[in-house]
Amino acid sequence: MTPSSPGAQPFGAPSGRAAVIAGVGGHVPPNVVTNADLVARLDTSDEWIRSRTGIASRHVVTPGTATSDLAVEAGRRALKSAQDSQVDAVVLATTTPDHPCPATAPAVASRLGLTGVPALDVAAVCTGFLYALATGAGFIACGLADRVLVIASDAFTTIVDPDDRGTAVIFADGAGAVVLRAGEADEPGALRSVVLGSDGELSDLISVPAGGSRQRSSGTPGQPGDEFFHMAGRATYRHAVERMTAAALRSLEDTGWRPEDVDRFAAHQANARILDAVAERLGIGPQRQLSNIEHVGNTGGASIPLLLSQKAADGSLTAGDRVLLTAFGGGLAWGAATLTWPEL
Ligand code: UT7
Repeated sequence: MTPSSPGAQPFGAPSGRAAVIAGVGGHVPPNVVTNADLVARLDTSDEWIRSRTGIASRHVVTPGTATSDLAVEAGRRALKSAQDSQVDAVVLATTTPDHPCPATAPAVASRLGLTGVPALDVAAVCTGFLYALATGAGFIACGLADRVLVIASDAFTTIVDPDDRGTAVIFADGAGAVVLRAGEADEPGALRSVVLGSDGELSDLISVPAGGSRQRSSGTPGQPGDEFFHMAGRATYRHAVERMTAAALRSLEDTGWRPEDVDRFAAHQANARILDAVAERLGIGPQRQLSNIEHVGNTGGASIPLLLSQKAADGSLTAGDRVLLTAFGGGLAWGAATLTWPEL
């Protein structure tokens, strides 16, 4: 599971219980914010945002809507897609929990009629979905669950400084989810490889300085804006390209695939230029890339399952497609995974 793990055997092989995707769902809040809306209140332009990020519009929560509301809807859709109403565990990846305490997942589980099952949050920022996927697959591999609902939901606009043009034009809100079931390593939908990694020495590149035990215990008042999301954009960009490319190559190697074997490349929708740079380094042409960043922006951890659900729905992702996933974000944390898309 880590970059240093042996890759010769299929993911989940030690226990003989693979994790298989059995359903997918996504949800974005209805409120749309266009580049023109941002230009009206920020020192930016439609041309800058489109050419530097690939984003034209994004969905943004309105007051009263929280991460759990998006998660419940995406989870409900994934359960429906799996023709299921019962799972044995819920794993929720988020950077914007409803509250610092308790975790958001138990409330989401109860609202989905799943009171009683284990439910936990996973914090890995924009790589959260891949970490949650690995956590759900681990529950299955060790026999703790036969079916797991894995959700990634972020309301990033609730932590982004609305006056910071470096982040306010990129980040947006949404949720995506998959249902995992126990199955065989060689069947469609089985996770073939999962690669995860982190580098805490660069944790300052992406952070929300306030709200945690470090600042609370320091006894010194915080700086204005400490409660907002901070990102060193240019440095993050460089690490994103390097780490996503390396993780993707490692996952392909573990799977025994070459880049030319990949039918669909579904990366975290960080920035269209980052996605193009990673795809180019991998030798994956634009026609094999899946992208929705133009109309949803960067939805953090939610971006991969939201992308998968939208592309499965519009027919650009079909059963039998060999899919490569990769993500990168705060932590730093990154990851990649492979699977053959199942009939859903
Ligand atoms: O989701 C996972 C983690 N996040 C990412 O992977 C995102 C990584 N970073 C990025 O996507 C890009 O770095 C950004 C989109 C954030 C910024 O694009 P960039 O091409 O790296 O721009 P920059 O930060 O190097 O800034 C270039 C110029 C600067 O002006 P000067 O110093 O050259 O005069 C900025 O002040 O663009 C300016 N700028 C803007 N101008 C108009 C920064 N933001 C804006 C803006 N509108 N919104």
